[in-house]
Amino acid sequence: MPPAVPPSADSATTTPFLQISGVSKHFGGVRALHEVDLDLRRGEVIALVGDNGAGKSTLVNVVSGVQRPDSGVLHVNGVEVRLDSPRAAAAVGIHTVYQDLSLCDNLDAVKNLFLGLEETDPWWRGRTLRRRAMERRAREVLDSMSVRLRSFTAPVGGMSGGQRQGIAICRALVSDPSLVLLDEPTAALGVSQRAEVLDLILRLKEDNRGVLVISHDLKDVQHVADRVVVLRLGSKVAEFSRGDYTSSDLVAAITGAHEGVA
Ligand SMILES: Nc1ncnc2c1ncn2[C@@H]1O[C@H](COP(=O)(O)OP(=O)(O)OP(=O)(O)O)[C@@H](O)[C@H]1O
Ligand SMILES: [Mg+2]
Repeated sequence: MPPAVPPSADSATTTPFLQISGVSKHFGGVRALHEVDLDLRRGEVIALVGDNGAGKSTLVNVVSGVQRPDSGVLHVNGVEVRLDSPRAAAAVGIHTVYQDLSLCDNLDAVKNLFLGLEETDPWWRGRTLRRRAMERRAREVLDSMSVRLRSFTAPVGGMSGGQRQGIAICRALVSDPSLVLLDEPTAALGVSQRAEVLDLILRLKEDNRGVLVISHDLKDVQHVADRVVVLRLGSKVAEFSRGDYTSSDLVAAITGAHEGVA
């Protein structure tokens, strides 16, 4: 396990990078999110936990511009923003690493890192030069996160789960985001690969990026998170700071077992 990085001393006093206020979202009769408030700061790792269907992915989708909330507002650096597309979220510095990673298995790491950015720079213009520049930037980003690959030119389909997760995280870093959202990055990974990904999360924090990570693994959560936010049936029911809670506090908040207890 990588060592835990303490929260920066001024994290409680700096203006939040992102403020989520009163966000609600329904799908037909299903209340996916209800009046959720949450502040995210640069240099801080927030874990979002809750049972299946608690609303975690919906909250990440709202922040990443995939879904519009029914009500509520988002502020980035104190300015109200409308994030109605992933592009709009990216433009304010918010990038998401999705559960399915959305990597192209048949392409190499460099091409995967720059997927989707190509539209702004057509391939037919200076193709060789551009490939060199992309390789240089890819190496920089992968090195900065200590993601080790045997080859930059091998298809990513043949790489390990940890390497693939590393590439997916680095893909979010190509455009230097302030906030990285991760939906279950350690699900389906082996022990050492999981440790690698937790290490990547702590490195994002060291780089003074904000991190919002969804996880069902409470051990992982307690290891990386400066704050843990618990959703249940769409509502935020608890928020714990590092060192201020036990595993059973978390479980009680997740399941609602603390309710009705004096
Ligand atoms: N696109 C959608 N259409 C209809 N209902 C949806 C949609 N997305 C989410 N929901 C519903 O909203 C609720 C919250 O779902 P969400 O995916 O946010 O939960 P989650 O906390 O991410 O769960 P899990 O841990 O299983 O991933 C669930 O009841 C879900 O069925
Ligand atoms: Mg989910």
